[in-house]
Amino acid sequence: MPAKKDRVITANEESEDRQLDQTLRPKALREFVGQNKVKDNLTVFMAAAKKRKEPIEHVLLHGPPGIGKTTLAHIIAGEMRVNVRVTSGPAIERAGDLGAILTNLEDGDILFIDEIHRLHRTIEEVLYPAMEDYVLDIVVGKGPSARTLRLDLPKFTLVGATTRVHLLSSPLRDRFGTIYRLDFYEHDDIEKIIKRSADILKVKIDQEARSEVAKRARRTPRVANRLLKRVRDYAQVKSDGTVTSRVANEALSQLDIDHQGLDNIDRRILTTIIEKFGGGPVGLNTIAASISEDQSTLEEVYEPYLMQAGFLARTSRGRVVTESGYKHLGKEAPADLQGKLV
Ligand SMILES: Nc1ncnc2c1ncn2[C@@H]1O[C@H](COP(=O)(O)OP(=O)(O)OP(=O)(O)O)[C@@H](O)[C@H]1O
Ligand SMILES: [Mg+2]
Repeated sequence: MPAKKDRVITANEESEDRQLDQTLRPKALREFVGQNKVKDNLTVFMAAAKKRKEPIEHVLLHGPPGIGKTTLAHIIAGEMRVNVRVTSGPAIERAGDLGAILTNLEDGDILFIDEIHRLHRTIEEVLYPAMEDYVLDIVVGKGPSARTLRLDLPKFTLVGATTRVHLLSSPLRDRFGTIYRLDFYEHDDIEKIIKRSADILKVKIDQEARSEVAKRARRTPRVANRLLKRVRDYAQVKSDGTVTSRVANEALSQLDIDHQGLDNIDRRILTTIIEKFGGGPVGLNTIAASISEDQSTLEEVYEPYLMQAGFLARTSRGRVVTESGYKHLGKEAPADLQGKLV
């Protein structure tokens, strides 16, 4: 079963986000909050390429959902003043599809491939020479008379994005000039993002309320923006439209989001591990089955934040609820917890 569509704090992109993302998406690097190391590196990297009048090297962006990968890909194109062609791993079904995209690019263009870990292996192989030497090998004819034609391609930049970098084959990974990991944001940065978004959406929200919303945003910009929208709606209906910390708290508790940003499903994951499996270690597939969730959803959507928040640990024998996890649920950790964590 895929992630619940009505889950407010999912970092996955839902249909309501698309419009929100468009309006709130930073267009320039200086508007992109946080991730300073990545920004500093990119700045140097882009300036150098501009100076050499060359396209920048291929870039791989990875990190959890909703953290700014797509945003950054568009910012790079904007800063380099080039066109960006957007596609995704699952959208490219045949080698010919990729060939058509590549031959239609212009010098300097950016090809953004989202979910690049889902590219078919046979299509990956077309990418290797394209990335390395800007050539496309196509086979014409069949059987003994078949021959390979080599076409020159424009000097493009591939920007790949993935939430699951470990699924990328190493030949593909090795062909990226730079690899950036976007990490969960600091609390202050999330507050800044909320302030920026509130200004754009013309929402009146005080400092204390911003901090309340930020605390529950799972250190993820997309979640922060979505929560802001929910508290704004609540404030418009229940008060005069200004978001105070009281209004924010009321709205967020109504959505069953606790002060650490966990919702019912997160809490159910932890409770299930504790009550059915003695706190772990237990395999991901077993957890998935007992809460009727899809294993990859569990791994990509729920688990990263539970681990980041320190409530769940991954060990060689499976997942274990940590002491903070027990504490968060108001439960006592078992005496043998340390032994389970190794
Ligand atoms: N550093 C940032 N500063 C301000 N806003 C941000 C930042 N990063 C992301 N956002 C906001 O969060 C939204 C989601 O970001 P984005 O779509 O780039 O995430 P993503 O990493 O591509 O997610 P997915 O893995 O689901 O594709 C953006 O539309 C933007 O409004
Ligand atoms: Mg994206």
